[in-house]
Amino acid sequence: MEATLAITEAVTKKPKPDPNSLQFGKTFTDHMFTMEYKADEGWTNPQIKPYAPIEIDPAAMVFHYSQTVFEGLKAYRTKDGVVRLFRPEENFKRLNRSNKRLSIPPIDEKSAIEHLKQLVALEKDWIPTEEGTSLYIRPFVIATEPSLQVAPAKSYQLFIILSPVGSYYPTGIQPVSIMVEEDTTRAVRGGTGSAKTGGNYSAGYNAQAKATANGHAQVLWLDGMEKKYIEEVGSMNVFFKINGEIVTPELSDSILEGITRKSVIELLKSWKVPVSERRVTMQEVKDAYDNGTLEEAFGSGTAAVISPIGELTWRDTTMTINGGETGDVTTSLYKTITNIQTGKERDPFGWTL
Ligand code: COI
Repeated sequence: MEATLAITEAVTKKPKPDPNSLQFGKTFTDHMFTMEYKADEGWTNPQIKPYAPIEIDPAAMVFHYSQTVFEGLKAYRTKDGVVRLFRPEENFKRLNRSNKRLSIPPIDEKSAIEHLKQLVALEKDWIPTEEGTSLYIRPFVIATEPSLQVAPAKSYQLFIILSPVGSYYPTGIQPVSIMVEEDTTRAVRGGTGSAKTGGNYSAGYNAQAKATANGHAQVLWLDGMEKKYIEEVGSMNVFFKINGEIVTPELSDSILEGITRKSVIELLKSWKVPVSERRVTMQEVKDAYDNGTLEEAFGSGTAAVISPIGELTWRDTTMTINGGETGDVTTSLYKTITNIQTGKERDPFGWTL
């Protein structure tokens, strides 16, 4: 089976960036983790080695038919130097669900987490501790077999790279303006929307460009069939507070099973705040706005954690939510989740490792 982890330390170390001017995913640490898959050996050759460009055959199948998946999770360092990972088991479970959807062989979740822990421990000085910062962890798998055949590859590489990050939005936790997208679709029933695969994200770039051109931060995605049901916001799950109840679209194969989404639901339940996962139409949100019961709205994701929605534009209506301010439930969720992640608050759920 899997060989033991080989570690090669970088001879020269890069200077650490200024923690107060970190952008999302622009700086990478000194080391990375790699592992390869060969048809006759399975996943093999786990290594931690200096972060460096890779050499890859231009015929590698990832370039042609996009056989690739990724994950995103975060590590934090407490004031007393303890390194904490937020729900990594959930990420590696999801990686394997994405692998299955993309016909990529499953990895051993337990050993992947052990290897990740060793990588993060080696890079612990790269974990920023300033408010709103963290070490973003990006595991990903690519099909490396050189072949133009339209079929699953026989060889793969898994990488884990690390990036110290600040807030996902340069403005920090500020309510953002969202445009409901009705022309293009992020994902369809039976498609790959519930898998974390690159094409789901690049397929949204032209709608995002339209939103940006119209002064909005992100788009709200509707279902691909009827353009009626709400699915996600930007690259995040979405929640609404309507007449005291928090609602979020129920999971389907066109919605990503967000780990922050799951944490939000678990927290709300522990607070005895009514929360329901069900289909939500855009008309229901508009009706709630019209009758004064649309109280809060926010996105949830690993990168931004919680992102309040201040304005929502659908056709010719712009709805200002909670006077354009961050609502109380949204604020409490952001504070509690980030306090648990950073170790400022006790973790009654056992989310941190
Ligand atoms: C997240 O919100 O965690 C995401 O998946 C965004 C990521 C693609 C940058």
